[in-house]
Amino acid sequence: MNCRKLFSDIVVGSLVMGLGTLALAQPDLEAAREVERALELTPDINNGRRVYTLCTVCHRPEGWGSADGRYPGIAGQLSGVIIKQLADIRARNRDNPTMRPFTSPQLFGGAQEIADVVSYISQLPMDPNNTVGPGMDLGHGERLYRENCVDCHGDQGQGDETDQIPLIQGQNYPYLMRQFQWILNGRRRNSDPKMVRQIKGFSPRDISGVMDYVSRLRPPADKLAAPGWLNPDFPKYAR
Ligand code: HEC
Ligand code: HEC
Repeated sequence: MNCRKLFSDIVVGSLVMGLGTLALAQPDLEAAREVERALELTPDINNGRRVYTLCTVCHRPEGWGSADGRYPGIAGQLSGVIIKQLADIRARNRDNPTMRPFTSPQLFGGAQEIADVVSYISQLPMDPNNTVGPGMDLGHGERLYRENCVDCHGDQGQGDETDQIPLIQGQNYPYLMRQFQWILNGRRRNSDPKMVRQIKGFSPRDISGVMDYVSRLRPPADKLAAPGWLNPDFPKYAR
């Protein structure tokens, strides 16, 4: 037995284990790696439709979530954004105890399943009747949006695929309110630090005004579902 070799094996082994623990303790890195892997894979949309069955319980077959904002609309979201949010939720870089069990390796799979389900969700047509805010302070909301949000989220809330900036047009107002508050108070850990700096000091009036304005930004016609559309891929879903 070569003692020196044994010793060096032990050293290398502990280093590798140490690095492994470090990776687990850094959910943002773990998520970033998964995002990279999912982005490189070729998606299979048919398998994506199958995987999406898991998501219909909460996000509904149409992917429009719930009007009360408990479950967000995800239909039509930009692929890069869905990939990042899924990876963050799986790695516990964004807390979502309700959904996380449904994204476990056993039930859901890995990076390939992310790529697949994302290709399915991103092409689903969006809700033409999302919940909007009370409509009392839209001028104030619009001014705040132009001054603080356009550079990143775009003039119509269309987001940015390459920078993984979410599309926020057509989203339900109560969900927008909750996320914005969680981004502001740090509860959403994966938020963008530059955005956090930009919105520091927003008052409750500012928040509801700007979110009301955002909830009324219309997606383009080719992203919207026709009136009365129900997802034909899930005919047996009890509505
Ligand atoms: C048990 C309910 C439940 C299931 C099942 C579920 N989700 Fe979710 N999902 C949620 C909730 C609740 C949120 C919002 C949490 C919050 O407010 O931060 C969410 C958020 C998301 C988001 C982030 C949306 C955004 O705008 O940032 C994505 C993407 C998502 N889910 C995708 C999926 C996919 C894909 C599946 C199926 C594999 C799935 N979800 C299954 C409950 C669920
Ligand atoms: C510096 C760029 C930047 C600015 C400025 C910015 N955001 Fe964001 N915003 C982001 C990024 C990036 C995310 C996604 C972060 C993540 O991965 O969770 C985000 C997330 C959000 C979300 C959550 C979306 C979802 O689907 O969960 C909302 C709502 C939002 N921003 C609204 C706004 C509003 C309104 C303003 C202006 C008052 C604003 N943002 C300013 C970059 C920005």
